[in-house]
Amino acid sequence: MKTAYIENISDYSGKEVKIRGWLYNKRTSGKLWFILVRDGTGIIQAVVSKADVDEDSFNMCDILTQESSLTIIGTVNPDRRAPGGYEIQAKKIEIIQIAKDYPITPKEHGTTFLMDHRHLWLRSTRQYAILRIRQEIIKACRNFLDERGFILLDTPIFTPAACEGTTTLFETDYFGSKVYLTQSGQLYNEACAMAFGKVYCFGPTFRAEKSKTRRHLTEFWMIEPEAAFFDLDDNMDLAEDMVIYVVQQVLKNKSKELKTIERDTTNLEKVSKPFPRITYDEAVKILHDKGVDFDWGNDFGGADETIISKHFEKPVIIHRFPSEMKAFYMKRDPENEKLSLGCDLFAPEGYGEIIGGGQREENLEIVEKRIKEFNLPRDAFEWYIDLRKYGTVPHSGFGMGIERVVSWICKLSHVRETIPFPRMLYRVTP
Ligand code: 4AD
Ligand code: MG
Repeated sequence: MKTAYIENISDYSGKEVKIRGWLYNKRTSGKLWFILVRDGTGIIQAVVSKADVDEDSFNMCDILTQESSLTIIGTVNPDRRAPGGYEIQAKKIEIIQIAKDYPITPKEHGTTFLMDHRHLWLRSTRQYAILRIRQEIIKACRNFLDERGFILLDTPIFTPAACEGTTTLFETDYFGSKVYLTQSGQLYNEACAMAFGKVYCFGPTFRAEKSKTRRHLTEFWMIEPEAAFFDLDDNMDLAEDMVIYVVQQVLKNKSKELKTIERDTTNLEKVSKPFPRITYDEAVKILHDKGVDFDWGNDFGGADETIISKHFEKPVIIHRFPSEMKAFYMKRDPENEKLSLGCDLFAPEGYGEIIGGGQREENLEIVEKRIKEFNLPRDAFEWYIDLRKYGTVPHSGFGMGIERVVSWICKLSHVRETIPFPRMLYRVTP
């Protein structure tokens, strides 16, 4: 007899199978037990009739508790009323373990309680759907870049060079010397792009974010393409195409999960070419027109991002930020030194920034000067400076925060549900 996974149950219509899983719920009508079992791939109902099973199996239904582990042997029958179109007519039930007092019950629990039990909370239908959507998003990003000839090259986690400013570094001891956990793979990506042309890295990145917001984690996953000879416009085109592809793949392949979390997909369906592209100046004007007190030259705060993002139906790309607020590697606008060729992509529905990137400074003297101005240790950047010595070319790239994308696509109120085990200012457990 075949051991079947619930997601493939239609392949076994009319046949006898073995299902292994956990009890999700149960009810009885006296002569019948209806047992809901989940196996990690789906949920199915097993009907246990006194007439069809041995006495032990029938009596076991009585003592089965939520999350008890078990095996069910039975026949797969089509049933139009069943959620997946099939149910199991049970022949035998074997208990693996009876779970005692599973802490997460169908009643409402507070966020702290659920976060403390994150290792168990993952079993609930909603978390399950969100994390399956996360997987689809990652898969889509990678497929998109792979298909366009970008080479995946993994960049290091331990690094002596700060990429995104020195205020959010996690420092660690490396056999007596000081290194940091990476904030972004970008600098190494730039080296790889000069070797391979079009590259990307995908991995965990770390920032000691001291603010507690619905958008910030201290450990998050970023996918970062980088391409030689790309200018700012090429970069924005790539970001736009990637976001459209990701949304379409999720709509196509994860409609069931989107339904489970009750995501209204009307706005997602509108994600199509072209995205509005506005300058930083125009974004500031939107804020001023809405009566927000915002000084030119500042970075957008969470509330500003929400307002700008809600102003558009589609994702919006903002470019040409004040040079002062951007990292040392950003290329300045040749037409206006005060502006840099950075670009951010804001998701709609109030979600704000999901992508940050831009065109890099390729000139040797300017990069050397910036490293000095930013008080960065030249030693740690010597290899980066080499890239400008040996065949430097214009190049661009960006980083897309996976958790921010999951949060938007699933329309979540906080990034804590977008990753199996979130790391935040006040949480490193479980
Ligand atoms: O805008 P950021 O800081 O850009 C960079 O790190 C560039 N070096 C990337 C590049 O050009 N290769 O971060 C990029 C994205 C943000 O748009 C956001 O989606 C995500 O990373 N991000 C965070 N996500 C969750 N928690 C945080 N604390 C995040 N910080 C950035
Ligand atoms: Mg940014």
